[in-house]
Amino acid sequence: MKNTILVTGGAGYIGSHTTLALLEAGFEVIVLDNLCNSSVDSLNRVQKICNKLPIFIEGDIRDRILLNNIFTTYKISAVLHFAGLKAVGDSVNNPLEYYENNVAGSVNLCSAMAQANVFNLVFSSSATVYGESTQMPINERAPTATPTNPYGRSKLMVEELLKDLSYSDARWSIALLRYFNPVGAHQSGLIGEDPNGTPNNLVPYISQVAIGKLKKLSVYGDDYPTPDGTGIRDYIHVVDLADGHLKALQAISKTGGVNIWNLGTGIGYSVLEMIRAFEMASQKSVPFQIVNRRQGDIAECWADPMKAQQELGWKTERKLNDMMVDTWRWQSLNPYGYKTSSNSVK
Ligand code: NAD
Ligand code: UD1
Repeated sequence: MKNTILVTGGAGYIGSHTTLALLEAGFEVIVLDNLCNSSVDSLNRVQKICNKLPIFIEGDIRDRILLNNIFTTYKISAVLHFAGLKAVGDSVNNPLEYYENNVAGSVNLCSAMAQANVFNLVFSSSATVYGESTQMPINERAPTATPTNPYGRSKLMVEELLKDLSYSDARWSIALLRYFNPVGAHQSGLIGEDPNGTPNNLVPYISQVAIGKLKKLSVYGDDYPTPDGTGIRDYIHVVDLADGHLKALQAISKTGGVNIWNLGTGIGYSVLEMIRAFEMASQKSVPFQIVNRRQGDIAECWADPMKAQQELGWKTERKLNDMMVDTWRWQSLNPYGYKTSSNSVK
Protein backbone atom coordinates (compact mmCIF):
# COMPACT_ATOMS: atom_id res chain seq x y z
CA MET A 1 0.00 0.00 0.00
CA LYS A 2 1.22 3.50 -0.81
CA ASN A 3 2.25 5.79 1.99
CA THR A 4 0.17 8.96 1.56
CA ILE A 5 1.31 12.33 2.88
CA LEU A 6 -0.80 15.49 3.07
CA VAL A 7 1.31 18.56 2.26
CA THR A 8 -0.37 21.83 3.22
CA GLY A 9 1.08 24.79 1.32
CA GLY A 10 2.66 22.31 -1.12
CA ALA A 11 2.43 24.66 -4.11
CA GLY A 12 4.66 27.22 -2.38
CA TYR A 13 8.43 27.64 -2.46
CA ILE A 14 9.57 25.09 0.12
CA GLY A 15 6.43 22.96 -0.22
CA SER A 16 6.91 22.38 -3.97
CA HIS A 17 10.54 21.30 -3.51
CA THR A 18 9.50 18.95 -0.71
CA THR A 19 6.58 17.57 -2.74
CA LEU A 20 9.07 16.75 -5.47
CA ALA A 21 11.38 15.00 -3.00
CA LEU A 22 8.43 12.99 -1.60
CA LEU A 23 7.26 11.91 -5.06
CA GLU A 24 10.79 10.94 -6.01
CA ALA A 25 11.02 8.87 -2.84
CA GLY A 26 7.85 6.96 -3.80
CA PHE A 27 5.27 8.62 -1.54
CA GLU A 28 1.80 9.46 -2.72
CA VAL A 29 1.28 13.19 -2.12
CA ILE A 30 -1.83 15.26 -1.62
CA VAL A 31 -1.24 19.00 -1.79
CA LEU A 32 -3.73 21.31 -0.10
CA ASP A 33 -3.09 24.94 -0.97
CA ASN A 34 -5.32 28.00 -1.36
CA LEU A 35 -2.80 29.51 -3.83
CA CYS A 36 -2.79 32.85 -1.97
CA ASN A 37 0.97 33.05 -2.50
CA SER A 38 1.66 30.48 -5.19
CA SER A 39 0.62 29.02 -8.50
CA VAL A 40 -0.45 25.52 -9.41
CA ASP A 41 2.16 25.75 -12.18
CA SER A 42 4.77 24.86 -9.57
CA LEU A 43 3.15 21.42 -9.33
CA ASN A 44 2.94 21.04 -13.11
CA ARG A 45 6.66 21.79 -13.17
CA VAL A 46 7.22 19.19 -10.45
CA GLN A 47 5.57 16.69 -12.79
CA LYS A 48 7.92 17.74 -15.58
CA ILE A 49 10.89 16.97 -13.36
CA CYS A 50 9.83 13.61 -11.92
CA ASN A 51 7.01 12.45 -14.18
CA LYS A 52 4.65 12.17 -11.23
CA LEU A 53 1.90 14.51 -10.15
CA PRO A 54 0.60 15.03 -6.64
CA ILE A 55 -3.15 15.11 -6.08
CA PHE A 56 -3.94 18.82 -5.86
CA ILE A 57 -6.79 20.21 -3.79
CA GLU A 58 -7.33 23.96 -3.96
CA GLY A 59 -8.58 24.94 -0.53
CA ASP A 60 -7.86 26.43 2.84
CA ILE A 61 -6.53 24.85 6.03
CA ARG A 62 -9.16 26.90 7.88
CA ASP A 63 -11.94 24.99 6.09
CA ARG A 64 -12.79 22.21 8.55
CA ILE A 65 -15.36 20.50 6.33
CA LEU A 66 -12.82 20.27 3.53
CA LEU A 67 -10.19 18.87 5.90
CA ASN A 68 -12.61 16.26 7.24
CA ASN A 69 -13.40 15.25 3.67
CA ILE A 70 -9.74 14.91 2.79
CA PHE A 71 -9.02 12.77 5.85
CA THR A 72 -11.99 10.48 5.19
CA THR A 73 -11.31 10.16 1.45
CA TYR A 74 -7.60 9.37 1.70
CA LYS A 75 -5.65 7.18 4.09
CA ILE A 76 -3.11 9.75 5.19
CA SER A 77 -0.18 8.67 7.35
CA ALA A 78 1.37 12.08 8.09
CA VAL A 79 1.03 15.79 7.42
CA LEU A 80 3.79 18.19 6.37
CA HIS A 81 2.42 21.59 7.34
CA PHE A 82 3.86 24.47 5.29
CA ALA A 83 0.69 26.52 4.74
CA GLY A 84 0.83 29.98 6.21
CA LEU A 85 1.67 33.60 5.58
CA LYS A 86 5.31 34.63 5.93
CA ALA A 87 5.94 38.31 5.18
CA VAL A 88 7.26 39.98 8.31
CA GLY A 89 6.35 43.59 7.37
CA ASP A 90 2.89 42.58 6.18
CA SER A 91 2.29 40.78 9.47
CA VAL A 92 2.79 44.05 11.36
CA ASN A 93 0.05 45.72 9.28
CA ASN A 94 -2.30 42.72 9.13
CA PRO A 95 -1.83 40.79 12.38
CA LEU A 96 -5.27 39.19 12.33
CA GLU A 97 -4.61 37.58 8.96
CA TYR A 98 -1.40 36.11 10.32
CA TYR A 99 -2.96 34.76 13.51
CA GLU A 100 -5.94 33.44 11.52
CA ASN A 101 -3.92 31.64 8.85
CA ASN A 102 -0.94 30.56 10.86
CA VAL A 103 -2.38 29.94 14.33
CA ALA A 104 -6.13 29.30 13.86
CA GLY A 105 -5.35 27.39 10.64
CA SER A 106 -2.93 25.12 12.54
CA VAL A 107 -5.47 24.55 15.35
CA ASN A 108 -8.06 23.58 12.74
CA LEU A 109 -5.63 21.23 11.01
CA CYS A 110 -4.63 19.51 14.27
CA SER A 111 -8.28 19.05 15.32
CA ALA A 112 -9.11 17.45 11.98
CA MET A 113 -6.01 15.24 12.25
CA ALA A 114 -6.95 14.08 15.75
CA GLN A 115 -10.49 13.32 14.64
CA ALA A 116 -9.07 11.23 11.79
CA ASN A 117 -6.50 9.50 14.04
CA VAL A 118 -3.56 10.98 12.16
CA PHE A 119 -0.91 11.98 14.66
CA ASN A 120 2.30 12.44 12.65
CA LEU A 121 3.02 16.09 11.90
CA VAL A 122 6.01 18.03 10.59
CA PHE A 123 5.72 21.77 11.17
CA SER A 124 7.60 24.57 9.36
CA SER A 125 9.02 26.70 12.13
CA SER A 126 11.76 29.27 11.91
CA ALA A 127 14.99 30.35 13.56
CA THR A 128 13.10 33.54 14.31
CA VAL A 129 11.83 31.80 17.49
CA TYR A 130 15.33 32.18 18.99
CA GLY A 131 15.07 35.99 18.85
CA GLU A 132 18.38 37.75 19.37
CA SER A 133 20.31 34.76 20.70
CA THR A 134 23.49 35.43 22.62
CA GLN A 135 24.97 32.05 21.75
CA MET A 136 26.35 31.36 18.31
CA PRO A 137 25.95 28.87 16.75
CA ILE A 138 22.42 28.31 18.04
CA ASN A 139 21.48 24.83 19.20
CA GLU A 140 17.98 23.58 19.99
CA ARG A 141 18.50 24.05 23.75
CA ALA A 142 18.85 27.82 23.32
CA PRO A 143 15.89 29.58 24.89
CA THR A 144 13.18 30.88 22.62
CA ALA A 145 12.42 34.58 22.84
CA THR A 146 9.30 36.49 21.97
CA PRO A 147 9.82 37.49 18.34
CA THR A 148 9.51 41.16 17.41
CA ASN A 149 6.64 40.79 14.93
CA PRO A 150 3.29 38.98 14.56
CA TYR A 151 4.68 36.54 11.96
CA GLY A 152 7.39 35.37 14.34
CA ARG A 153 4.99 35.26 17.27
CA SER A 154 2.58 33.14 15.24
CA LYS A 155 5.36 30.58 14.66
CA LEU A 156 6.25 30.48 18.35
CA MET A 157 2.56 30.16 19.31
CA VAL A 158 2.12 27.17 17.02
CA GLU A 159 5.26 25.57 18.49
CA GLU A 160 3.80 26.02 21.98
CA LEU A 161 0.39 24.68 21.02
CA LEU A 162 1.98 21.62 19.41
CA LYS A 163 3.97 20.97 22.59
CA ASP A 164 0.77 21.20 24.65
CA LEU A 165 -0.92 18.82 22.26
CA SER A 166 1.83 16.27 22.55
CA TYR A 167 1.83 16.47 26.39
CA SER A 168 -1.94 15.91 26.35
CA ASP A 169 -1.91 12.82 24.12
CA ALA A 170 1.04 10.48 23.66
CA ARG A 171 -0.13 9.41 20.22
CA TRP A 172 1.17 12.64 18.69
CA SER A 173 4.57 12.53 17.05
CA ILE A 174 5.66 15.98 15.96
CA ALA A 175 8.69 17.58 14.35
CA LEU A 176 9.30 21.29 14.81
CA LEU A 177 11.75 22.16 12.06
CA ARG A 178 13.44 25.46 12.66
CA TYR A 179 14.62 26.65 9.28
CA PHE A 180 17.45 29.11 9.02
CA ASN A 181 17.46 31.08 5.70
CA PRO A 182 16.18 28.98 2.78
CA VAL A 183 17.50 30.04 -0.62
CA GLY A 184 18.23 28.53 -4.04
CA ALA A 185 16.12 26.51 -6.39
CA HIS A 186 15.91 23.04 -7.91
CA GLN A 187 18.83 22.49 -10.28
CA SER A 188 16.47 21.91 -13.23
CA GLY A 189 15.61 25.63 -13.12
CA LEU A 190 11.93 24.64 -13.29
CA ILE A 191 10.88 25.42 -9.71
CA GLY A 192 12.08 28.14 -7.38
CA GLU A 193 11.05 31.07 -5.22
CA ASP A 194 8.49 33.39 -6.82
CA PRO A 195 7.93 36.32 -4.46
CA ASN A 196 4.90 38.54 -4.87
CA GLY A 197 5.94 42.13 -5.66
CA THR A 198 9.27 43.48 -4.48
CA PRO A 199 11.12 40.83 -2.50
CA ASN A 200 11.82 41.40 1.21
CA ASN A 201 14.50 38.75 1.51
CA LEU A 202 18.10 39.18 0.48
CA VAL A 203 18.70 36.52 -2.19
CA PRO A 204 15.53 37.11 -4.26
CA TYR A 205 16.30 40.83 -4.10
CA ILE A 206 19.89 40.32 -5.28
CA SER A 207 18.78 38.11 -8.16
CA GLN A 208 16.21 40.66 -9.32
CA VAL A 209 18.90 43.34 -9.30
CA ALA A 210 21.19 41.06 -11.30
CA ILE A 211 18.52 40.50 -13.97
CA GLY A 212 17.75 44.22 -14.14
CA LYS A 213 14.25 44.21 -12.62
CA LEU A 214 15.48 46.26 -9.66
CA LYS A 215 18.10 49.01 -9.76
CA LYS A 216 20.20 48.39 -6.72
CA LEU A 217 20.26 46.52 -3.46
CA SER A 218 20.04 48.39 -0.17
CA VAL A 219 22.37 46.78 2.35
CA TYR A 220 20.72 47.24 5.72
CA GLY A 221 23.57 48.49 7.88
CA ASP A 222 27.35 48.04 7.91
CA ASP A 223 27.81 48.88 11.57
CA TYR A 224 26.96 45.51 13.12
CA PRO A 225 29.58 43.87 15.35
CA THR A 226 30.52 41.43 12.57
CA PRO A 227 33.82 41.22 10.61
CA ASP A 228 32.58 43.41 7.70
CA GLY A 229 29.81 45.17 9.63
CA THR A 230 26.92 43.57 7.68
CA GLY A 231 24.46 41.00 9.00
CA ILE A 232 25.39 37.33 9.07
CA ARG A 233 22.92 34.50 8.34
CA ASP A 234 22.93 30.76 7.75
CA TYR A 235 21.65 30.28 4.18
CA ILE A 236 20.45 26.78 3.37
CA HIS A 237 19.73 25.35 -0.09
CA VAL A 238 16.02 24.58 -0.44
CA VAL A 239 16.75 21.10 -1.84
CA ASP A 240 18.77 20.23 1.28
CA LEU A 241 15.90 21.63 3.34
CA ALA A 242 13.40 19.44 1.47
CA ASP A 243 15.57 16.37 2.17
CA GLY A 244 15.55 17.31 5.87
CA HIS A 245 11.74 16.98 5.82
CA LEU A 246 11.92 13.44 4.48
CA LYS A 247 14.38 12.50 7.21
CA ALA A 248 12.19 14.11 9.87
CA LEU A 249 9.15 12.27 8.54
CA GLN A 250 11.01 8.99 8.80
CA ALA A 251 12.16 9.80 12.34
CA ILE A 252 8.77 10.78 13.74
CA SER A 253 7.21 7.58 12.48
CA LYS A 254 9.38 5.92 15.16
CA THR A 255 9.90 8.45 17.97
CA GLY A 256 6.76 10.11 19.37
CA GLY A 257 6.54 13.37 21.35
CA VAL A 258 7.84 16.71 20.15
CA ASN A 259 11.18 16.74 18.37
CA ILE A 260 12.94 19.98 17.58
CA TRP A 261 15.55 20.13 14.84
CA ASN A 262 17.47 23.08 13.44
CA LEU A 263 17.80 22.89 9.68
CA GLY A 264 20.79 24.98 8.71
CA THR A 265 24.33 24.52 7.39
CA GLY A 266 26.22 25.70 10.46
CA ILE A 267 28.00 28.38 8.41
CA GLY A 268 27.19 32.08 8.45
CA TYR A 269 27.77 34.49 5.57
CA SER A 270 27.57 38.27 5.61
CA VAL A 271 25.50 40.35 3.21
CA LEU A 272 28.64 41.50 1.40
CA GLU A 273 29.87 37.91 1.07
CA MET A 274 26.48 36.97 -0.40
CA ILE A 275 26.68 39.75 -2.98
CA ARG A 276 30.17 38.69 -4.04
CA ALA A 277 29.18 35.02 -4.25
CA PHE A 278 26.16 35.88 -6.38
CA GLU A 279 28.22 38.06 -8.72
CA MET A 280 30.73 35.26 -9.14
CA ALA A 281 28.04 32.65 -9.88
CA SER A 282 26.04 34.81 -12.27
CA GLN A 283 28.83 36.87 -13.82
CA LYS A 284 26.50 39.86 -13.33
CA SER A 285 27.17 42.89 -11.22
CA VAL A 286 24.94 43.67 -8.27
CA PRO A 287 25.07 47.40 -7.50
CA PHE A 288 24.36 48.22 -3.87
CA GLN A 289 24.31 51.05 -1.37
CA ILE A 290 24.67 50.93 2.39
CA VAL A 291 21.58 52.26 4.17
CA ASN A 292 20.36 52.26 7.78
CA ARG A 293 19.68 49.04 9.63
CA ARG A 294 16.26 47.45 9.05
CA GLN A 295 14.13 47.55 12.17
CA GLY A 296 13.92 44.17 13.90
CA ASP A 297 17.09 42.75 12.26
CA ILE A 298 19.74 41.05 14.33
CA ALA A 299 23.49 41.05 13.78
CA GLU A 300 24.04 37.35 13.34
CA CYS A 301 22.24 34.05 13.33
CA TRP A 302 23.57 30.65 12.40
CA ALA A 303 22.74 27.11 13.34
CA ASP A 304 24.38 24.33 15.21
CA PRO A 305 22.99 21.55 12.98
CA MET A 306 24.56 18.64 14.94
CA LYS A 307 21.31 17.40 16.50
CA ALA A 308 19.75 16.87 13.07
CA GLN A 309 22.95 15.27 11.85
CA GLN A 310 23.07 12.81 14.76
CA GLU A 311 19.37 12.03 15.10
CA LEU A 312 18.23 12.25 11.49
CA GLY A 313 21.43 11.34 9.66
CA TRP A 314 20.91 14.55 7.69
CA LYS A 315 23.35 17.23 6.74
CA THR A 316 23.44 19.80 4.00
CA GLU A 317 25.32 18.90 0.84
CA ARG A 318 25.03 22.05 -1.21
CA LYS A 319 27.47 24.93 -0.79
CA LEU A 320 27.09 28.68 -1.18
CA ASN A 321 28.09 28.57 -4.85
CA ASP A 322 25.42 25.91 -5.57
CA MET A 323 22.81 28.13 -3.89
CA MET A 324 23.79 31.07 -6.06
CA VAL A 325 24.17 29.14 -9.34
CA ASP A 326 20.75 27.52 -8.84
CA THR A 327 19.09 30.81 -7.87
CA TRP A 328 20.50 32.46 -10.96
CA ARG A 329 19.46 29.61 -13.26
CA TRP A 330 15.87 29.82 -11.91
CA GLN A 331 15.84 33.63 -12.15
CA SER A 332 17.25 33.83 -15.67
CA LEU A 333 15.04 31.04 -17.07
CA ASN A 334 11.93 32.48 -15.35
CA PRO A 335 12.31 36.27 -15.17
CA TYR A 336 8.63 36.58 -14.17
CA GLY A 337 8.55 33.50 -11.96
CA TYR A 338 5.61 31.24 -12.83
CA LYS A 339 3.99 34.06 -14.79
CA THR A 340 4.72 34.27 -18.50
CA SER A 341 5.04 38.08 -18.55
CA SER A 342 5.25 40.99 -16.12
CA ASN A 343 1.50 41.66 -16.28
CA SER A 344 0.03 38.15 -16.26
CA VAL A 345 -1.65 36.95 -13.06
CA LYS A 346 0.08 34.39 -10.82
P1 NAD B 1 5.23 30.20 0.47
O1 NAD B 1 4.39 31.40 0.67
O2 NAD B 1 5.91 30.04 -0.84
O3 NAD B 1 4.36 28.89 0.75
C1 NAD B 1 3.27 28.86 1.64
C2 NAD B 1 2.10 28.24 0.88
O4 NAD B 1 0.97 28.17 1.77
C3 NAD B 1 1.67 29.07 -0.32
O5 NAD B 1 1.58 28.21 -1.45
C4 NAD B 1 0.30 29.63 0.06
O6 NAD B 1 -0.54 29.78 -1.05
C5 NAD B 1 -0.19 28.58 1.04
N1 NAD B 1 -1.15 29.06 2.05
C6 NAD B 1 -1.04 30.15 2.83
N2 NAD B 1 -2.10 30.23 3.67
C7 NAD B 1 -2.87 29.14 3.41
C8 NAD B 1 -4.08 28.65 3.95
N3 NAD B 1 -4.72 29.33 4.91
N4 NAD B 1 -4.60 27.51 3.46
C9 NAD B 1 -3.98 26.83 2.47
N5 NAD B 1 -2.82 27.25 1.92
C10 NAD B 1 -2.28 28.38 2.38
O7 NAD B 1 6.28 30.15 1.67
P2 NAD B 1 7.53 29.20 1.89
O8 NAD B 1 8.73 30.03 1.83
O9 NAD B 1 7.45 28.00 1.04
O10 NAD B 1 7.30 28.82 3.42
C11 NAD B 1 6.66 27.63 3.81
C12 NAD B 1 6.56 27.61 5.32
O11 NAD B 1 7.85 27.70 5.89
C13 NAD B 1 5.75 28.77 5.91
O12 NAD B 1 4.99 28.27 6.99
C14 NAD B 1 6.81 29.72 6.39
O13 NAD B 1 6.37 30.51 7.46
C15 NAD B 1 7.90 28.75 6.84
N6 NAD B 1 9.23 29.36 6.82
C16 NAD B 1 9.70 29.92 5.66
C17 NAD B 1 10.94 30.52 5.64
C18 NAD B 1 11.46 31.17 4.37
O14 NAD B 1 12.41 31.92 4.45
N7 NAD B 1 10.90 30.89 3.20
C19 NAD B 1 11.73 30.53 6.80
C20 NAD B 1 11.24 29.93 7.96
C21 NAD B 1 9.99 29.34 7.95
C1 UD1 C 1 13.69 37.27 7.49
C2 UD1 C 1 12.67 37.56 8.57
C3 UD1 C 1 12.49 36.31 9.43
C4 UD1 C 1 12.09 35.14 8.56
C5 UD1 C 1 13.14 34.95 7.48
C6 UD1 C 1 12.72 33.84 6.59
C7 UD1 C 1 12.84 39.95 9.02
C8 UD1 C 1 13.22 41.00 10.02
N1 UD1 C 1 13.12 38.68 9.38
O1 UD1 C 1 14.91 36.90 8.10
O2 UD1 C 1 11.49 36.51 10.39
O3 UD1 C 1 11.98 33.95 9.31
O4 UD1 C 1 13.28 36.17 6.72
O5 UD1 C 1 12.94 34.08 5.29
O6 UD1 C 1 12.30 40.25 7.97
N2 UD1 C 1 19.22 42.38 3.79
C9 UD1 C 1 19.70 43.50 3.16
N3 UD1 C 1 18.98 44.03 2.14
C10 UD1 C 1 17.79 43.51 1.71
C11 UD1 C 1 17.29 42.35 2.36
C12 UD1 C 1 18.03 41.83 3.41
O7 UD1 C 1 20.77 44.00 3.51
O8 UD1 C 1 17.18 44.05 0.79
C13 UD1 C 1 20.01 41.76 4.87
C14 UD1 C 1 19.29 41.71 6.22
O9 UD1 C 1 19.54 42.86 6.96
C15 UD1 C 1 19.90 40.44 6.83
C16 UD1 C 1 20.18 39.54 5.63
O10 UD1 C 1 20.23 40.42 4.51
O11 UD1 C 1 21.13 40.75 7.44
C17 UD1 C 1 19.12 38.50 5.40
O12 UD1 C 1 17.85 39.11 5.33
P1 UD1 C 1 16.52 38.32 4.91
O13 UD1 C 1 16.77 37.53 3.68
O14 UD1 C 1 15.39 39.28 4.89
O15 UD1 C 1 16.32 37.26 6.09
P2 UD1 C 1 16.27 37.52 7.68
O16 UD1 C 1 16.26 38.94 8.01
O17 UD1 C 1 17.32 36.67 8.29
